[in-house]
Amino acid sequence: MADRAAVILAAGISSRMNTMMPKVLHEVCGRPMLAYVLDACRQVGVRKTYVVVGFSAEQVKERFGGSADIEWVIQEKQLGTAHAVLCCKEQLKDFRGETLVLCGDGPLIRSLTLTTLIEKHEAEQAAATLATAVLDDPTGYGRIVRDAYGNMQGIVEHSDCTKELLAIKEVNPSYYLFNNQVLFEALERVKPDNVKQEYYLTDVLSGIIRTGHKVVAVTAVRSEEAMGVNSRRQLSDASKIMQRRIQQELMENGVTIVDPDNTWIDARAKIGQDTVIEPFTYIHGVVEIGQNCRIGPFAYLRDGSVLKNDVVLGVYTEIKNSSLADGVRARHHSYIGDATVGRNVNVGAGSITANYDGQKVSRTNIGNDCYIGSGAILIAPLVIKDGSHIAAGTVVSQESVNELGGEAKSDVSER
Ligand code: UD1
Ligand code: MG
Repeated sequence: MADRAAVILAAGISSRMNTMMPKVLHEVCGRPMLAYVLDACRQVGVRKTYVVVGFSAEQVKERFGGSADIEWVIQEKQLGTAHAVLCCKEQLKDFRGETLVLCGDGPLIRSLTLTTLIEKHEAEQAAATLATAVLDDPTGYGRIVRDAYGNMQGIVEHSDCTKELLAIKEVNPSYYLFNNQVLFEALERVKPDNVKQEYYLTDVLSGIIRTGHKVVAVTAVRSEEAMGVNSRRQLSDASKIMQRRIQQELMENGVTIVDPDNTWIDARAKIGQDTVIEPFTYIHGVVEIGQNCRIGPFAYLRDGSVLKNDVVLGVYTEIKNSSLADGVRARHHSYIGDATVGRNVNVGAGSITANYDGQKVSRTNIGNDCYIGSGAILIAPLVIKDGSHIAAGTVVSQESVNELGGEAKSDVSER
């Protein structure tokens, strides 16, 4: 197996998104687009990825700070995709392996497609291989031009296509694998001879063909995976496709999703076997749900929530940064935030943790087998000991618990 590096292009300004934020930080099902592309590289065994950043580079770096396998490369001016790759020259000029080049705005990428690309490249001993897709509506994408024998000749960008070329439905999703040395030689020769006067990476392929090297195009990208997100509309389309994938995988793992179209589950969520997700449930952030739980309808689970097994959450129940042990029930209109809730606790209708006093957020710790009556307000920081019974409508503070001889310790610092 050849040594393999990856370059991900993520420097663009994205005028079509009409955004002040770097495009690749826009989220698809809770994760920035770039995260999916990085994952795909890791899954095919790439150990070092060069991410080209420019517009608001610091923001992108900050979001992915701490990933040791990423090397950031700055493209000061966004002169085009070929120029962006050429910005990695210092880092890659002596590299004798193969280089994957991908775009940070293609979150629907699947590692399986990259594996096909790599296998084809090696089997054909090509200098460059790209994976293509066939789309019913190829608007906006670079078109793959082949000769009468089906050999790849080059890519023409949508804005440079003649009427005949516009009819081509085979497009470039920007999944490339290059012999690194051939790539960098060819990049030097790219000229901005096009409508947008940019240095196009797509021109590298015809350039490589012209110097007698073998370039292969393999139609390996499913149409739903080919999307490059250039607009808010495409961002929402990509999110829909990703949501379907997330739910599909959960269902394969034994989770019932009663109404997939009316359920939203974050890409980072984990859900156990035989849990049922009722309609209008919204799960956002890093959330873990155990087995045999029943969630919703109309439940809202937020970042940092960990639910063990047999938990029941009903209508208008919001959970944030809390852990709920086995058998906890909160069936109606509750807010549990920054809390640790013990086994078999029943949280009555309309009961809440008052976790914020206007200045700081504090924790609530509810022991095992507690009964919290309806409409209780639990003022944090608060510790309620095992087996406590809180009457309906009670406002519970640590002082009132202490007066009753309850647990005196407060656990503000404990998570
Ligand atoms: C590009 C391809 C097109 C393909 C499509 C697939 C080129 C010239 N065109 O078009 O053939 O069908 O992707 O989605 O490559 N970027 C930089 N620096 C730059 C310019 C762009 O880093 O100077 C980055 C962008 O941030 C983005 C990626 O490269 O992540 C692609 O750029 P974008 O402007 O989205 O290209 P497309 O028009 O989508
Ligand atoms: Mg794009």
